[in-house]
Amino acid sequence: MCGIVGILSSHEAAPILVEALKRLEYRGYDSAGIATVQDGRLDRRRAVGKLVHLQDLLVHDPLAGKAGIGHTRWATHGAPSVRNAHPHSTARVAVVHNGIIENFRALRQFLADNGIGYETDTDTETVALLTQYHLDQGLPPREAAQATIARLEGAYALCFLFDGEPDLLIAARKGSPLAIGHGDGENFVGSDAIALAPMTDQITYLDEGDWAVVTRASVEIRNAAGEQVSRARKTIATGAAAVDKAGYKHFMAKEIAEQPTVLQGALAHYIDADGARVVLPDAGLDFAQVERLTLVACGTAFYACMVAKYWFEQTAHLPVEIDVASEFRYREPPVTPGTVAIFVSQSGETADTLAALRYMTGKADRILSVVNVAESSIARESDLTLPILAGVEVGVASTKAFTCQLTTLALLVLKAARDRGHMTAAQLADRLADLQRLPGLMNAALAVEGPVRALTQELSEARDILFLGRGAMYPLALEGALKLKEISYIHAEAYASGELKHGPIALVDPMVPVIVMAPTDTLFDKTVSNMQEVMARGGKVLLITDATGAAAASDGVWKTLVLPDVSPFLAPILYAVPAQLLAYHTAIAKGTDVDQPRNLAKSVTVE
Ligand code: F6R
Repeated sequence: MCGIVGILSSHEAAPILVEALKRLEYRGYDSAGIATVQDGRLDRRRAVGKLVHLQDLLVHDPLAGKAGIGHTRWATHGAPSVRNAHPHSTARVAVVHNGIIENFRALRQFLADNGIGYETDTDTETVALLTQYHLDQGLPPREAAQATIARLEGAYALCFLFDGEPDLLIAARKGSPLAIGHGDGENFVGSDAIALAPMTDQITYLDEGDWAVVTRASVEIRNAAGEQVSRARKTIATGAAAVDKAGYKHFMAKEIAEQPTVLQGALAHYIDADGARVVLPDAGLDFAQVERLTLVACGTAFYACMVAKYWFEQTAHLPVEIDVASEFRYREPPVTPGTVAIFVSQSGETADTLAALRYMTGKADRILSVVNVAESSIARESDLTLPILAGVEVGVASTKAFTCQLTTLALLVLKAARDRGHMTAAQLADRLADLQRLPGLMNAALAVEGPVRALTQELSEARDILFLGRGAMYPLALEGALKLKEISYIHAEAYASGELKHGPIALVDPMVPVIVMAPTDTLFDKTVSNMQEVMARGGKVLLITDATGAAAASDGVWKTLVLPDVSPFLAPILYAVPAQLLAYHTAIAKGTDVDQPRNLAKSVTVE
């Protein structure tokens, strides 16, 4: 899930490439590199680690030229090193790649049989070497790239730049997204529209199997069969200022703080002016006809699906199956008529989720997606897309996308309950009014930041942390543990509170903080009993609850965080706030890289 960019500009390419790579760094930050054609000659600069290292290198060793390609890497094959950094090049071609070339060993063997050796540990290098091989056979650049692409198996978004060709880029897409940006006497290639936003808002997304010949004056797109095709050009509203920290120290802090505002926007989008109905882009979607739902996603988005399972089953009496996308299609689940499949993804590009969607295409009655990036592959391959309207999320740890996913799913649940006759019009209006209180409650919940900050130094010294929750708070416990692991690197696990005594309670000792998420709902007393079991064994409990819960159950706990009162239905959305803040401030106390934690990337476009 690297980020790639290509430009044919009328200005110096290097600064524009670096600017685009900044916007793609969320896709990986193991290394970065650019190549340009200057005076007809290919040259490149590459550096390990974040983009800033490449920027430093370019200060001392600039790269001229108005045509170039760039790459920000999340390592799949080969450790992060300059040698393995893209662009990979030969004397005549340079290549940047996102994805995995699955047959690279066979291609290496073919190259070796033809006396061509390799120098890096990467799969991508074989693409450059194979193109050089075809060039050496006498094929012109375009045909050489085409012949190379035809031999690739796996997933790729590729951009080729050729020696002696300052007005040519070849782009190809299979399994990894790729966009062409149209400028005025300039053209661009990028992993997504966000990368190209400062240059153009005129975007054409390549379809699966497409490849494009790009010059400053033209863009010619061909499908996998080699036929010239026309793909829609769209005006994209990504906003050049989208990647601004707005005065916050980290994107994650900004994105946590933004939640009341973006939730308000999402609610206004989906609730009609009278506050009486949920308005979806497809008025024909009737949950009365639906027999069961299948919800599939990865990571944080999967935990949103887990919460939605409780909601759909309890409120709309609709059976729900959920699975993580990386397992789903390999289970080969049978799909019966009446099934609607819902795929949840912030990026809309997660390879596993997209593959699961494709597995369900043609099997499920309908494919719905709940995405943040409205132009993403998952959105484009769905029958119906519900945008979560969180705005660009840059921090690698998902925050506002999670609460916006939950809010969008909650609206869908209410519509389903009404469609299926489990809610009167008046009850629906009450529930929607309750939802409309969420931005205000979230604002109030953010006030817990001070108390959180006060205890995170101590938490940051823990080696292991447990999270407990019951019912729809169990997925929140999982989300709390995931957030903490991701950015503070502290080992954290979550359990359904009732499950603790079946094994994990053996971990409890005074050195292991146990974070209990327990709003006062029908399960509160049971969760508190489990909490008592922890305290009886010397466990150090942090209780997250409301004022009633704090009054009833704070005795003997290490610390209590008090959130505003909230209806049980909406509690999972509100309780995301302390989970996020605990992770954020613990990471600050540990001094880790909050927005770009080690080994991770924002958009996971490989399996
Ligand atoms: C965690 C996180 C990841 C993503 C997961 C799915 O903070 O961000 O677990 O939720 O990689 O990504 P999307 O939602 O883009 O499909």
